[in-house]
Amino acid sequence: MAEYETILVEQRGGVTLVTLNRPQALNALNSQVLVDLIAAFAAFDADASQGCAVLTGSAKAFAAGADIKEMQSQGFAEMYASNFFAGWENFTRTRKPVIAAVAGYALGGGCELAMMCDFILAADTAKFGQPEIKLAVSPGMGGSQRLTRAVGKAKAMEMCLTGRMMDAAEAERSGLVSRIVPADELVEEAVKTATTIAAMAPLAVLANKEMVNAAFETGLAMGVQFERRLFHGLFGTEDQSEGMAAFVEKRAGTWTGK
Ligand code: CAA
Repeated sequence: MAEYETILVEQRGGVTLVTLNRPQALNALNSQVLVDLIAAFAAFDADASQGCAVLTGSAKAFAAGADIKEMQSQGFAEMYASNFFAGWENFTRTRKPVIAAVAGYALGGGCELAMMCDFILAADTAKFGQPEIKLAVSPGMGGSQRLTRAVGKAKAMEMCLTGRMMDAAEAERSGLVSRIVPADELVEEAVKTATTIAAMAPLAVLANKEMVNAAFETGLAMGVQFERRLFHGLFGTEDQSEGMAAFVEKRAGTWTGK
């Protein structure tokens, strides 16, 4: 297993658990975190023994944002020329599912990173926010777009304009997180959920992720058409024959990933 500077990576059966590990900066996302996460998630995607990942932080902070100290001295020319933050697009290209397990602060880039994952499980201690306006800037890793799609314009606009944080209960009510779990059970519950996903037929997992994501990129008719075509495609797999035979024969299916 590769070693990284800013994250810890371990495999628990078919689940890759990635833990952000910059406690001195509340897991603020600097360029090294980006480099480490891209490498770790590329390795996860390429490893056929791994079916789902969990991305988590510490009890105090999932991540308190992009690293303000790293950005502080940057000007427009450097930011624009380097297309600062564009590298995060690579994280969203991870093909297998990634669950964000969020305890404590998920602020700015931390909230945006959680929203780049496929769904968020929140500890009852989780706090979400886009406080960049207080620094006289704005979200830059997709927050204004993903938060608005997740919770609607009213809450997203209020949060971006005031920097107000949302607690776990409000985040669940608003559709930002799938479920709330007690903080001390968060990682265990996320790994359990990921284990359930990792046990599914691998091609069906990829197809389900792709089609739900298509809902963000397309209109309804195109999205439904995309879903139907992927659904048809799954009928070309060995695992579909096995899955349906297993149901009829009242036994568990075993998957080949073909
Ligand atoms: N960047 C760099 N360092 C950070 C950081 C960040 N985003 N957030 C916290 N830290 C550092 C602090 O500077 C501090 O370091 P020192 O001990 O060296 O002073 C350490 O982490 C602990 O933080 P605090 O002492 O502030 O802890 P606290 O418990 O008093 O407060 C907090 C916690 C409310 C989360 C507070 O740290 C905070 O407000 N952090 C910044 C949140 C923020 O503005 N995030 C948005 C960043 S911009 C962005 O993300 C742009 C984008 O769109 C991607």
